[in-house]
Amino acid sequence: MAVDKIRVLIVDDIAETRENVRKLLQFESDVDVTGTARSGKEGIQLAQELDPDVVLMDINMPDIDGISATEVIREKSPHIQVVILSVQGDPNYMRRAMLAGARDFLTKPPMGDELISAIRRAGEMAHTERAKGSQQRLGAASSVGAPISMSNLAPISKGKIITVYSPKGGTGCTTIAVNLAIALNNEDTRTALVDANLQFGDVAVFVNEQGKNTILELAPRVDELEVEVVEEILVKHEASGIRILAAPQRPEMAEKVSADQFTKVLQFLQRMYAYVVVDTSPILTDVILSTIDISDVIVLVTTQEIPAIKNARLFLDLSQTMGIDKQRIVFAMNRYDKRIAITPERVSENLKHEVTVTLPLDEKVVITAVNRGIPFMLDNKSQPIGRGIFSLAEAVRARLATIETESEAPAARR
Ligand SMILES: Nc1ncnc2c1ncn2[C@@H]1O[C@H](COP(=O)(O)OP(=O)(O)OP(=O)(O)O)[C@@H](O)[C@H]1O
Ligand SMILES: [Mg+2]
Repeated sequence: MAVDKIRVLIVDDIAETRENVRKLLQFESDVDVTGTARSGKEGIQLAQELDPDVVLMDINMPDIDGISATEVIREKSPHIQVVILSVQGDPNYMRRAMLAGARDFLTKPPMGDELISAIRRAGEMAHTERAKGSQQRLGAASSVGAPISMSNLAPISKGKIITVYSPKGGTGCTTIAVNLAIALNNEDTRTALVDANLQFGDVAVFVNEQGKNTILELAPRVDELEVEVVEEILVKHEASGIRILAAPQRPEMAEKVSADQFTKVLQFLQRMYAYVVVDTSPILTDVILSTIDISDVIVLVTTQEIPAIKNARLFLDLSQTMGIDKQRIVFAMNRYDKRIAITPERVSENLKHEVTVTLPLDEKVVITAVNRGIPFMLDNKSQPIGRGIFSLAEAVRARLATIETESEAPAARR
């Protein structure tokens, strides 16, 4: 008896993702991609027309999101098995996906063999369900389809908190935080930018999004946050795609947000976004200390000026007392001018902490960007300052990877 091929429908709004998944599957003799859909709506329609065995479903899509689409498809055709592909390994999403009747949950981009074995498992299930269905057309449809077991699921990865801090004012923290967030943000690593300078935060001004929601909308409800509510409150920066949580509009409002509330918000965002970039003020308020404490990486910013370097040294000392591993601090030198004798090498040696990245002085590009409210990573990213931000993003990713492997090492030895 010839083995039935597993017929797959791909639902994703990004053409590139659909193509990549199709390519991953093209050499599997037992898998047949029967169709692709660009939205939840189209997915539902094609699922009915093509009657596939397995639907590979994205979550974030323009009209109907992947979770609602899953629910509809499973209700209409309970034998169809849905495998969710999501950029976020968010346990909340995962739970909702399971409740909607998804069979499996993989984080994007999926590894080839991880995807194929998920499809085979789901395909087998679909074939069994189909056979069962034709035997007994009666029975409650909704009870069909085994629930997914947690062990089937890809491991959940939590987003990373990256805090940009300088113990000296005016060194370029906000400039770096805003542009770094834009550099880190892409389809697979959604990024949120949070302003922890609660008194005089100016992140919203840097991206020309003043006067909208702020942290004040979230702080009172930290114990009952929901993804949909948070998504509503975050400001969408259309030009770059990042999400922004702005500081209160007036300095006297700052005290309405406690350190506990602030860190709870960050930890919630961590479940929704791959990266949460935080801008800070030099003053170590409770909010900023707690933020530093829970950060995966701290970008410490200095310039070539002695007061900035002196303060960086003091902060490095303090971070040791706080028990922050040196690895977590990526040291960056901003406004770097090679005509000045205080070189990154000298500072590295002096402070016994390597300056990993230098960002050149470029008043024309940087100040114009701030005044127009258009970050230079949007329209000037090929300039040296833009390339500097890209290397910073790379350095941060590399550091996160090192920290991760080192923390996994003891577990692997078990
Ligand atoms: N690489 C650079 N080259 C030239 N100018 C820069 C550079 N980085 C920042 N600036 C300028 O320096 C000033 C301070 O930058 P920014 O506001 O980002 O610093 P900050 O550390 O966030 O300051 P604050 O302590 O006020 O929060 C701004 O006018 C900005 O345009
Ligand atoms: Mg600032």
